[in-house]
Amino acid sequence: MQLQRPVNEGFLILDYGSQYTLLIARRLREIGVYAEIIDGSRQTAPSEDFHFHGIILSGGPDSVGEEGARSLPAWVTASTKPILGICYGMQLMAEASGGKLRSGQSREYGKTHLKFDWKDLPAYAASLKTLLQDQIVWMSHGDDVEAPHSSFVTLAYTDEKVVGVIAHREKPWIGLQFHPEVQHTECGEEILKAFVFDICKAPRNWDSSQMLEASIDRIRQNVGKGKVLMAVSGGVDSTVAAVLLTRALGAAQVHAIFVDHGLLRKDEAKWVQEQFHLLGVQLTTLDKKKEFYSDLAGVTDPEQKRKIIGRKFIEAFEEFAKGHQKEFTHLGQGTLYPDVIESAGHGAGAKVIKSHHNVGGLPEKLALELVEPFRFLFKDEVRTIGRALGIPPLLVDRHPFPGPGLAVRIIGAIDAEKVRILQEADAIFIKNLHEHNLYHQVWQAFAVLLPVKSVGVMGDNRTYQDVCALRAVTASDGMTAGVGDLPISFLVNVGSEIVRKVHGINRVVYDVTTKPPATIEWE
Ligand code: XMP
Repeated sequence: MQLQRPVNEGFLILDYGSQYTLLIARRLREIGVYAEIIDGSRQTAPSEDFHFHGIILSGGPDSVGEEGARSLPAWVTASTKPILGICYGMQLMAEASGGKLRSGQSREYGKTHLKFDWKDLPAYAASLKTLLQDQIVWMSHGDDVEAPHSSFVTLAYTDEKVVGVIAHREKPWIGLQFHPEVQHTECGEEILKAFVFDICKAPRNWDSSQMLEASIDRIRQNVGKGKVLMAVSGGVDSTVAAVLLTRALGAAQVHAIFVDHGLLRKDEAKWVQEQFHLLGVQLTTLDKKKEFYSDLAGVTDPEQKRKIIGRKFIEAFEEFAKGHQKEFTHLGQGTLYPDVIESAGHGAGAKVIKSHHNVGGLPEKLALELVEPFRFLFKDEVRTIGRALGIPPLLVDRHPFPGPGLAVRIIGAIDAEKVRILQEADAIFIKNLHEHNLYHQVWQAFAVLLPVKSVGVMGDNRTYQDVCALRAVTASDGMTAGVGDLPISFLVNVGSEIVRKVHGINRVVYDVTTKPPATIEWE
């Protein structure tokens, strides 16, 4: 039994496969309303137990009208609820009303200037005029609306004369060619607020700081006197989940398992054990370094590394669980809402960029029921719960760390020596960030070991050693990222400390690429 949704009203986001769909849900929650994502091609309206105030149509990679492209389901066009169409969603809306689209003639990508024209503004959208001025918006499209149907007015154009905003003259339907959910859109939040509160007249119903008591009650109802086996990584999500479960059920009913795959940060395994001890959570560490290194030997392909680690992780966990099977009734997981959506639970077809590893498949094999207290939550909401549980900031505000660990930060084949070199370099970088109060100014920071050797000079001797890249990014959710603006003098000092202290590295570089086009991790 998975935990039921936290509230029964809010907004529906229809997903057409945009990389930004999750951001729409997050932004809505940030402004104080609950939102859920469902498949945009779903042919039936959601069941009555979820009351929705409005519908948002996401962007997506399809081209409206092309073979196989998704169209608006009949229950959506028949709905009397307000609709906000974003990018592909706007094009669907325009097409469903008889407008004219064009493909591939007006590609716009990135920051674009938008100019408003309010003269035919419909009364239901009046608040937009007081909120919005000409501004920079974030575009990412190849198709656009050449001419909306006469039942629509055009409220904004880009400098390239692309239709930027349309609104139906009578029905509360608004279409945006740009992405209000992306931070680079200057008034993105205002537009979403106007839709939610002024046009849909929705009440505020979401505040993640009030979630704690409700979560504890739901866990008690679901697990009762059962016992939970819980895989933890030392990261924020599984740690907060383990502490929450322990708080709800008592330490005797929760047992955390930590697999040490040998690809952790320096001294991480010991640190995690100490922290769990202090937090009063029962923990067993399984030392599987040798097995992981042996299966990863010589493997260079990033996806293959990820798959091997995912499989080995499940094997280690399964072996433990089988030996103790009779004791447990439930399997606890720190699964977040983005994991649920990204594992294409609703089949909307966003492209897989990297296969994240989790313990999927285990519950059936082990005949355990799932407990996923964060199945409907985002990471920042989990952090809020963690703080309310009294988990120290050192843990709750830690930078994210990928499940496959240093394996995706050692480019090329992995061995114990490379892991050691990278651990040392990474620890120096992180220690310096803390010492200079820069750690919390970036979303994530780490070192990467490159399969490149370069010539250097130390003392009077020639060196020929590895290159280490430092990466620090700013982000609010990891879906897009900027480059951490760290002072060059700080980077020079970190670089020189690494070269001085880490035997095997003689050159350090700083990664200055945003996401997109790069991803945060190198593999
Ligand atoms: P990318 O590299 O996809 O990373 O831009 C986005 C965020 O996800 C983290 N990441 C992972 N987290 N399992 C995880 O739990 C994984 O397999 C994984 N791969 C990447 C990454 O560290 C960043 O915060």
